[in-house]
Amino acid sequence: LASAEYDLTPIAEGQSVTVKWRGLPVFIRHRTPKEIQEAQAVPLSELKDPETDEQRTKPGHEQWLVMIANCTHLGCIPVGESGEYDGWFCPCHGSVYDTAGRIRKGPAPKNLVVPPYQFLSDTKIQIG
Ligand code: FES
Repeated sequence: LASAEYDLTPIAEGQSVTVKWRGLPVFIRHRTPKEIQEAQAVPLSELKDPETDEQRTKPGHEQWLVMIANCTHLGCIPVGESGEYDGWFCPCHGSVYDTAGRIRKGPAPKNLVVPPYQFLSDTKIQIG
């Protein structure tokens, strides 16, 4: 299937799930206000792969972060809610991602990839 729908209702604030899309693992995270605030406060000049939080989320749905769950270094699956930027930590070679999934430290060259997706309603997304 090229696209797939996911119900966000069961994902409480502060929780994440990992779903499959086209054979890839995808993180869906329901961010806390603190995580959103942290992500929005980062100056672009501090980022290796500069993208604003707004570029990585959908307007009006900033609490939701949807990203392919493969580290952009060599593809390991990072661990959530860890690392010094409160986002993800990749145990393979130590890449650290922030609460917007942006690379902050370590060998990964790029931010975690946001797949094409859209909101079908406030509680349902379609990826792909
Ligand atoms: Fe994640 Fe190397 S695969 S740091």
